[in-house]
Amino acid sequence: MMTGGHAIETMFSEERTYPPPENFTAQANAQADIYDVPFEDFWEREGRERLTWFEPFTDLYTWEPPYAQWYLGGKLNVCFNCVDRHVEAGHGDKVAFHWEGEPADETRAITYADLQKDVVRFANALKKLGVKRGTPVAIYMGMVPELPVAMLACTRLGAPHTVIFGGFSADSLSGRMNDMQCEVLVTQDEAWRRGSTVPLKKVADEAMAAAPVTKQCVVLRRTGNDVPMQEGRDHWWHELEEDCSDDAESCACEPMDSEDLLFLMYTSGTTAKPKGIVHTTSGYLTGVATTHHYIFDLKPEADVYWCAADIGWITGHSYIVYGPLCNGATSVLYEGTPDYPDKDRWWSIIARYGVTILYTAPTAIRSHMKWGPEHAEKHDLSSLRLLGSVGEPINPEAWVWYREHIGGDRTPVVDTWWQTETGMVLITPLPGITTTKPGSATRPFPGVAAAVFDEQGNEVGPGGGGYLVLTKPWPAMLRGIFGDDQRYRETYWAKYDDVYLAGDGARIDRDGDFWLLGRIDDVMNVSGHRISTIEVESALVDHHDVAEAAVCSRADAVTGEAIVAYVTLKGGADGSVEKLEELRNHVAQKIGAIAKPANIVFTPELPKTRSGKIMRRLLRDVANDRALGDTTTLADPTVVGEIAKRAAEEKSSEEG
Ligand code: WTA
Repeated sequence: MMTGGHAIETMFSEERTYPPPENFTAQANAQADIYDVPFEDFWEREGRERLTWFEPFTDLYTWEPPYAQWYLGGKLNVCFNCVDRHVEAGHGDKVAFHWEGEPADETRAITYADLQKDVVRFANALKKLGVKRGTPVAIYMGMVPELPVAMLACTRLGAPHTVIFGGFSADSLSGRMNDMQCEVLVTQDEAWRRGSTVPLKKVADEAMAAAPVTKQCVVLRRTGNDVPMQEGRDHWWHELEEDCSDDAESCACEPMDSEDLLFLMYTSGTTAKPKGIVHTTSGYLTGVATTHHYIFDLKPEADVYWCAADIGWITGHSYIVYGPLCNGATSVLYEGTPDYPDKDRWWSIIARYGVTILYTAPTAIRSHMKWGPEHAEKHDLSSLRLLGSVGEPINPEAWVWYREHIGGDRTPVVDTWWQTETGMVLITPLPGITTTKPGSATRPFPGVAAAVFDEQGNEVGPGGGGYLVLTKPWPAMLRGIFGDDQRYRETYWAKYDDVYLAGDGARIDRDGDFWLLGRIDDVMNVSGHRISTIEVESALVDHHDVAEAAVCSRADAVTGEAIVAYVTLKGGADGSVEKLEELRNHVAQKIGAIAKPANIVFTPELPKTRSGKIMRRLLRDVANDRALGDTTTLADPTVVGEIAKRAAEEKSSEEG
C-alpha cells in the first residue's frame, strides 16, 4: 500500500525513550491536564485567550461536511492581533524580528513599534494602488523583513494574499496569479543566494506577461542591481511610500469576519495543477497561535525563537509570521542558506542572538549531520532549550543527532506533523508532558481528533497501520480548494464519509503513539517540499524531444526522497548527458529548481499495464534497487528488465 517499507523497520527497532526533563515540565505552558479539556471547551477557551476580538464570536463552529466554519459572529483583524495590540500593551520596544541578511554584516533589529510603522506605511502605499478589502495580492520575495511587512499590510487592509516561494518559475508564478486573479504583485529586484543573485523581478516580468490580470507591481530594492521598470505598472517600494504616513491612525485595521479569506497557499496534489488551499481569518490565527504557544512553550518575555523555514511555504506562514507575532514572540529571521559563507552559519546565529527554540526540517538536520558536528561545536549553543522538526518523517538517527549535537542531549525534541491543508500542527509531543521516541510524532494535539483507518474505514488500534485521518474539524483547517469544490471533495473526503484523508500512511504503536510513514499518493517529498510526480511528468513532456515520461522517487540520505525520471525520446532517439542536463533545466524552468530530477533514465519504452497506465510502483522498485514486484499485469514484461538494466548502467557510470 505505501512506500515506506524500509522506514517501518527502522522505526520499529527504535526503543529509546526520552521523558521530559523535570525542570522543563515545572515551567511548561502545557501541563498534563490539557488533554482532559473537552474539544469544544478547549477551542472556545483558546479562541478567547489567544486573540483580541473587535466583536466576540457567538458560535464556536458549524460543521456541514466537508466544510467547517469557526468562531462565527466574531470580528477581528490579523494585523491588529500580530502587531498593534502588542504596541498598545506597551511592548513597542520589544524586538519582533532579529533579521540577518545573507551578507553577514547586514542585520536589523525590528521592534513591534518599528513593525507597526513599516506595515502602516506600506498599507498606505498599497491603498494608492487601489488595494482594499478583498483585493487579491501576490507576493514573490526572498527572506527580507519586507516580506512579513507586505503580508501584514494586506491583512491590515483585509486584502487576501498568496505568497509564492522565490525558487518558483515564471510559469508557476503566473499560474498562481491567474488562478487567484491577483491584481497586484509585490516583489524585489533580486534576492541573495550563496553570494550570487536570484533575478526575482526578471521572473516576475515574464510571469506578468502571462498574467494580464496583474496590473500593478511593487518592487523592493534589495541588491541594488539594475532591473527594468515598466512605466505605469512597476513602482519602487521606497518611492511609492514617500508621501505615506506611518501613523497607525492613518490606516485603521479593517474589521474582518471570522470566515473572511486570509490567504491562499498553493501546494502540489496528484495532478499537474497546484491546489490553492484556502485559509480564513480567525480559525487559522487561533490554531497557529495556540499550537505555537503550547508546542514551543513560548515565553514571549524570555525566548528567542527561530523557525528556519522559508516564509514562502506554509511553515513560514504559520510559524514565522502569524503564530509567533500573534503571541508577541521575539524571532530570528535569516535571509540565507545554512552553509554560506560557511557551514557553521546557523550555529553562529544561534550563539549571537541567544536562540532558545529552534524549528527546522529533517533535510536540514541531515545536511548538518553530513557536514559533521565540528561546525556546531565551534559555537556556544547552550541557550537552546527546545528543538522542533517538521516537513517529512525524521529518521531516528537524525533525531538523536539533533538532540545530542545541537541540543546538548538536554533539550526536548518535538517532531510535528501537519500539512499546508491543516494550517497548524496536529500531531506532536508537548515538550513538558510527552515521553518522546526518536521518529515518532507521538500524539494528536489537544482538541484534535486524529486516527488511523484501514482500507474499509475501521479505526486500527495499537500495533496497527493504515491511513492517517482526522475525524473532527479543527480551527485552522482548509476551507476548500480555491475555485474547485469537486477536487476538494474528491481529494480529501471521498475515501471515507465525513472524515479527512490526510494522504499519509501511519502506524500506531503499543503506547498509542503515531509514526508517520510518508505519502500514500503520487506526491513526493523532496527536502520537505511537496512535488507531484505528474507535475514533473508534464514539465518533461512539454519539452519538444520528449515522447513520454514517468516520474517517481527514490530514497535519499539527505533530501529524504530524490526525483527519478524515466524518459522516452521522440523517434526512438538515444539519450545523452547533454540531453539529460537540458531536460533537468527544462523542469527547473517550468516549475522551479526544487523539482529538477536527480536522475533521468532514458528508455525506449515505459512499463504500462494493458490498459495503458504507467506502473510507477515498478519504477519505484527499480529506482530503489528493490526486487521487482508483480509484473504479470504488464503489457510487455521485458520493458522493466530493460529499464532496470539501463538504470544500473547509469548508476555504475555515475559511480565510476
Ligand atoms: C509530510 C508541511 C512525517 C507529510 C508542514 C505531509 C511529515 C506533508 C511531517 C505536508 C512529520 C510533514 N513527519 N511527515 N513531522 N510533517 N510531513 O503541505 O507527508 O508542505 O502530508 O506541509 O509533509 O507537507 P506540506
